[in-house]
Amino acid sequence: MAHTPDLPQAILVTGAAGNIGRSVARHLAAALTEGRIARLRLVDIAPIDNPLREDHPGLERMELSLSTRAAADQATRDMDAVIHLAGIPSESSWDKLIDANLAGPAYLWDACVAHGVDRVLFASSNHAIGMHPSDSRIDHSAALRPDSRYGATKAFGELVAGLYAAKTPVRAYCMRIGSCFEHVTARRHMKTFQSLADFNRLIDTGLTADYHYEVVYGLSDIPDGYWDNSNAHRLGYAPQDHPSDFLDESLNENDYPFQGGEVAEAPLSPDG
Ligand SMILES: NC(=O)c1ccc[n+]([C@@H]2O[C@H](COP(=O)([O-])OP(=O)(O)OC[C@H]3O[C@@H](n4cnc5c(N)ncnc54)[C@H](O)[C@@H]3O)[C@@H](O)[C@H]2O)c1
Repeated sequence: MAHTPDLPQAILVTGAAGNIGRSVARHLAAALTEGRIARLRLVDIAPIDNPLREDHPGLERMELSLSTRAAADQATRDMDAVIHLAGIPSESSWDKLIDANLAGPAYLWDACVAHGVDRVLFASSNHAIGMHPSDSRIDHSAALRPDSRYGATKAFGELVAGLYAAKTPVRAYCMRIGSCFEHVTARRHMKTFQSLADFNRLIDTGLTADYHYEVVYGLSDIPDGYWDNSNAHRLGYAPQDHPSDFLDESLNENDYPFQGGEVAEAPLSPDG
């Protein structure tokens, strides 16, 4: 990130206690200590570790559930950019998903308009397009085809992002994240993997590029996978990692007919 120009000065990271959130928090905490941003606010429903060794006047940590209007208002106040990672990250019941993944983004975007936030980087998912067949290659213009209730909530988030980008000044950058983990644990990940370092590169692009509404894939350097990520590259994203450098000792070798993998193959649970 050493060469990143003109970062927004006040950045909110939601879901900052999560796997991706902790990595993003460390990345942006470095920008804070180097004086490249002035304020970093970390929010999560769970306790958040300090990404720095000691307190810093520009660093705030808030333990909040982002499923109410009041919480969204508190979290976004005085922020320039929001990286919205908070949410349930896999298939679940509507009871849980409605609060975290539907009410969360809905109230967040209203609050961003109210507080004049410039842009929202939204953690969408490959499960928003998971019912595209595995033998197809799609780009940012592909139709939403969710493969699960979870995927439908991410499609909803993208639609909210598009609505507010069309009718308000809030820019939106929807990141359809593939498999963003420390290790490659399945053969499918050879087509869907994104390293945490490449995710931070995707974030840097989203924080600094000039756009109004964009869809990009959260993908490492995989030129022959399910997703043509030329839209992200056009905006400046240059991934540097390859899934073969992150292989776990044993791999799930299954092939799946749909891009969403086993999630797409699973029947809808009756749970509702
Ligand atoms: N890791 C991946 O491969 C991947 C793939 C696609 C999409 N995503 C999306 O990226 C985001 C981060 O994923 P992750 O792997 O770090 O998941 P994670 O579960 O580790 O992190 C999510 C964080 O959100 C917090 N959270 C949940 N509900 C909340 C609420 N109501 N208010 C505030 N915070 C709340 C959780 O406490 C958790 O710390 C999620 O939105 C997920 O859906 C991740």
